[in-house]
Amino acid sequence: MNELIQAVGILSAISAVLSLLMVIADRTIANYGEVTITINDEKKLTVQGGSTLLSTLMSEEIFIPSACGGRGSCGFCKVRVLEGAGDTLPTELPHLSEEERRNSIRLSCQLKIKKDMKIEIPEELFNVKQFRGVVARIRDLTYDIKEITIRLLEPAEISFKAGQYVQLETPEYELADEPVYRAYSVSSAPSRKDLVELEIRRVPNGICTTYVHDYLKEGAAVTLNGPYGEFFLRDSTRRIVFIAGGSGNAPIKSILSDMAEKKIGRKALYFFGARTTKDLFLQEEMKAFEGQLSDFTYIPALSEPAEEDNWGGETGLITDVIDRRLDMGEETEAYLCGSPGMIAACIKVLTAKGIPEERIYYDKFA
Ligand SMILES: Cc1cc2nc3c(=O)[nH]c(=O)nc-3n(C[C@H](O)[C@H](O)[C@H](O)COP(=O)(O)OP(=O)(O)OC[C@H]3O[C@@H](n4cnc5c(N)ncnc54)[C@H](O)[C@@H]3O)c2cc1C
Ligand code: FES
Repeated sequence: MNELIQAVGILSAISAVLSLLMVIADRTIANYGEVTITINDEKKLTVQGGSTLLSTLMSEEIFIPSACGGRGSCGFCKVRVLEGAGDTLPTELPHLSEEERRNSIRLSCQLKIKKDMKIEIPEELFNVKQFRGVVARIRDLTYDIKEITIRLLEPAEISFKAGQYVQLETPEYELADEPVYRAYSVSSAPSRKDLVELEIRRVPNGICTTYVHDYLKEGAAVTLNGPYGEFFLRDSTRRIVFIAGGSGNAPIKSILSDMAEKKIGRKALYFFGARTTKDLFLQEEMKAFEGQLSDFTYIPALSEPAEEDNWGGETGLITDVIDRRLDMGEETEAYLCGSPGMIAACIKVLTAKGIPEERIYYDKFA
């Protein structure tokens, strides 16, 4: 037994030394020197090679969406690389379609800059800014969701479309040996340009959510960048169905506030799925939109109501409730926000009801 423990110890020590040597080799032998990145055939940046394209652009204050913080799992950080990228890496493949590969689309978080590069990025990303702010208020919405209100200081105002998200920085702390960024939808109305309100659900052992729930305090300084995303209300007269679970409520709340302020009177239903009454929040605020909007109905549904909940509302899986209550077909747009599983299941029900897939918009909180 002792010999086994000794062997495991020796192997661990060898692998630790090898990892250290690889890091040292990468920093010294693989010294790529200064390289030039040409963006959209106009802007030229002279940067130090050796880092990823994503982090290098970020240090030059050019912000590419990166919801997973560069782990290669969200697929948000795509840019077109015309020169200087080398072959597609195995870690990029799951996120790139055949067509994207033919069009030289790459994941900027996976690409290391080793020589001069030519890239193309959408013009609107030049409008994404970094903001410094202060936490004005933290309140518990449920046992696992907190609402964080950030007052912006520098710049002091943000312009965004209701439904878009920002990326919040988690500084170095116990679980993060370098700053990491995660995506959070803004729940406040775009008319409140001076603040950003977020609804953040705790993910067990999650880097950013553990920081927000256990370490972040009112008065603390925070950094975020944005706005990002295509999840916003399309300009049309169609009827609307909103569907969310948990903190997926955030962008819908922002859209509803915006609709109320702009007096948009389109027929709209909002299905909110929760397990028990413990998972419901902001019930009065959401119900109040029925009075502020001319044709809006809020439908919270519980999948596992406890007896003591005395719940008189809808029960069952959110997909079953939608199937029962939704009587709007083709001339409808759907806006979904929550876990990937919930979104996939709801898309099936919505398309079966006759809503075309191209009119179903969603943000997967993954
Ligand atoms: C567009 C968009 C908008 C979003 N808006 C919101 C919002 O409004 N509110 C909200 O609460 N959330 C939102 N999210 C989700 C949010 O961005 C984070 O993913 C979530 O909060 C978890 O972050 P974390 O740092 O706490 O967890 P992470 O540290 O990212 O970990 C998440 C989970 O993955 C596991 N994990 C950790 N490291 C790895 C690894 N290397 N490989 C595999 N698994 C790993 C962890 O154990 C944990 O279970 C949104 C996501 C997107 C894409
Ligand atoms: S940042 Fe998520 S895949 Fe690149």
